[in-house]
Amino acid sequence: MTISVKQAILERRSIKKFNGQPVEKQAVLEILDDAKWAPNHGNRQPWRIVVAAEDKLPQLHALLRDLAVPKWQELSEEALAAQMQKFTLAGAYAFVLVTEDMRQKERLEDYAATSCYLQNAQLLAWEKGIGTCWKTPGFLDNPKFREALNAKSNERVISMLQFGHFDEAAKAGARKEVADFVTEFGA
Ligand SMILES: Cc1cc2nc3c(=O)[nH]c(=O)nc-3n(C[C@H](O)[C@H](O)[C@H](O)COP(=O)(O)O)c2cc1C
Repeated sequence: MTISVKQAILERRSIKKFNGQPVEKQAVLEILDDAKWAPNHGNRQPWRIVVAAEDKLPQLHALLRDLAVPKWQELSEEALAAQMQKFTLAGAYAFVLVTEDMRQKERLEDYAATSCYLQNAQLLAWEKGIGTCWKTPGFLDNPKFREALNAKSNERVISMLQFGHFDEAAKAGARKEVADFVTEFGA
């Protein structure tokens, strides 16, 4: 399916309820490759991505359980499975890291460029019929999690990007009218 850029932007929604269908690693890699055409100052391409898909998912789920489900050992199997659904129903993951430049201007630019990269990935996935959600859970900064991603001291993990299939389209949150956030210069 080919959709226009406008359609992709207007119709993409963050998917928060996936249906558990896996997403092929190859599809994720294609999306991440195309997304690299994001604008970025100095062509520094400040992003790095760690992908978990297919056979890597059980290992990731175990880590997410350890980091994000308090006292999981004390839960029944069913209660644990219910709490883990927000992780296990996604079909693949991309963790997006940005290099943190010592210089403030470059650091802001690099964060902005990596955000552009991320939206590209979300729109490209949408075109393929794959939903995404950019999430920023607290454990992204957890040393144990950073170690699992081999994050260097100058890298910040800015997104857990979940990919997945879904049965119901998510509702759009209302947006302001353009006149509410655009004014004319000099007015
Ligand atoms: C920087 C950033 C962080 C986000 N973090 C989360 C998150 O931690 N959990 C979540 O459910 N959604 C998260 N979202 C998704 C937003 O909730 C979502 O984009 C917003 O509700 C608008 O919905 P839409 O993307 O469907 O238009 C994040 C989005 C961005 C851009």
